[in-house]
Amino acid sequence: MVLEAEKLGISEIIATPHYNDFLYPGSGIIENFSIIKSRVAGCDIQLHLGYEVFLFSELFEKTGELKEKTLNGSNCLLFELPYDHIPLYTGDLLFRFNIEKMIPILAHPERNRSFVRSFDSFIRFIENGCLVQVDAASIAGAYGAEVKRFAERIIKLNLAQFVASDAHCAEDYANWYLPAYNQVKRWAGEDYAGRVFGENAREIISVNGQKAGVNESE
Ligand SMILES: [Fe+2]
Repeated sequence: MVLEAEKLGISEIIATPHYNDFLYPGSGIIENFSIIKSRVAGCDIQLHLGYEVFLFSELFEKTGELKEKTLNGSNCLLFELPYDHIPLYTGDLLFRFNIEKMIPILAHPERNRSFVRSFDSFIRFIENGCLVQVDAASIAGAYGAEVKRFAERIIKLNLAQFVASDAHCAEDYANWYLPAYNQVKRWAGEDYAGRVFGENAREIISVNGQKAGVNESE
């Protein structure tokens, strides 16, 4: 995957393994991440660790723990919802994240059936105070015309701050990420494509770089 990403000129990746205590309890993510990092040490790609947090009600008691599950140690927390509905407690949970000074980033809203049925419900949802990340594969049409149309609407209204590869295997970069980049350029222009495919994520990475710099000098 890293070699394929490198071919596209990608220089940094925030890897976002699923954080879901029910499906993957004690999954050894930290250990696996350090093994992968050492295996790609010779590549021109910097790997960073983040998570994609599956939302469930028990997270109310785990907000302290979640501060360890942000993107590259920043205050940005990537989360995903179930695909078929929006749990009733979601708004309260996002409010809790905001109080705890975490900025929630909603992953792939275009793949959630409730949002696809009602664009207004999506707008109301993000008014809770969260950023938006769209999947490259959705933009490239991998999930069908309806999901692609929803992604197009989000992109054309400039409501997304990030487009993620959501790559689960090496081929996903060439199959979805590159076509998605070209599509976003056509829909919303090169500047916006540059922001959602790179610059905004780089901001997240650099925030933590600065924090690390401060700590080192103390
Ligand atoms: Fe996801």
